[in-house]
Amino acid sequence: MNYHVLTLFPEMIENGLNTSIIGRAIEKGLISLNAVDIRGFSVNKHKRVDDYPYGGGAGMVMQAEPVYRAYETVREQIGRRPRVVYLTPQGRVFSQAVAEELAGEEDLVFLCGHYEGIDERVLEEVVTDNISIGDYVLTGGELPAMVMIDAISRLVPGVLNNDVSAEFESFYDNLLEYPQYSRPEEWHGKKVPEVLLSGHHGNVEKWRRQQSLIRTAERRPDLLKEAKLTKKDVEYLEN
Ligand code: ADE
Repeated sequence: MNYHVLTLFPEMIENGLNTSIIGRAIEKGLISLNAVDIRGFSVNKHKRVDDYPYGGGAGMVMQAEPVYRAYETVREQIGRRPRVVYLTPQGRVFSQAVAEELAGEEDLVFLCGHYEGIDERVLEEVVTDNISIGDYVLTGGELPAMVMIDAISRLVPGVLNNDVSAEFESFYDNLLEYPQYSRPEEWHGKKVPEVLLSGHHGNVEKWRRQQSLIRTAERRPDLLKEAKLTKKDVEYLEN
């Protein structure tokens, strides 16, 4: 998976994703991260990339041409038209399902806006997907791009140490994850649930499934409606 992030703050992307699991995935060559500085494509001798909005109003608008040139450079490098995600509160809301859909791409371009946005004309020409990470307004698209890159990367084979672990976590099958415990067996007077010490794999699996069901019902009942439940699951929840 090759990510290309068009941004006015490339250091944010580089510094934000070079640690831990994503940093290691880059080192291993499982993913690559190309932060492209839009300012480097300014057509102005003062390296400006923004200007006043036509029609007036507060703030500045990112101009079309620098964004377009940054995009064109990436497109030429890839050799075809990639999917281009514009991070905007006006997009469809990001979810595990969207992460799974995008994880199948070879290249993904993220376009990060700032100020009052980007000239609509270049968005019309290059953007294939408008995506929001939630119903709140951030100061720029960099954090949303990083959120998406993190969520997509952990679905790329080899990125997680354990290939099966992605599918047992929250939102797989629209169920929340069961609680986890590690040593010691007793902490602050609280004991690890007996079944987890039993060594009985079948009972452990059953208990974990039930915990997932209870948690989802209590914390995210909206997800439960989408979950694929067995007859046994439904029986358990009804009792
Ligand atoms: N840019 C500003 N706010 C955003 C949000 N919530 N999601 C995606 N991009 C954004």
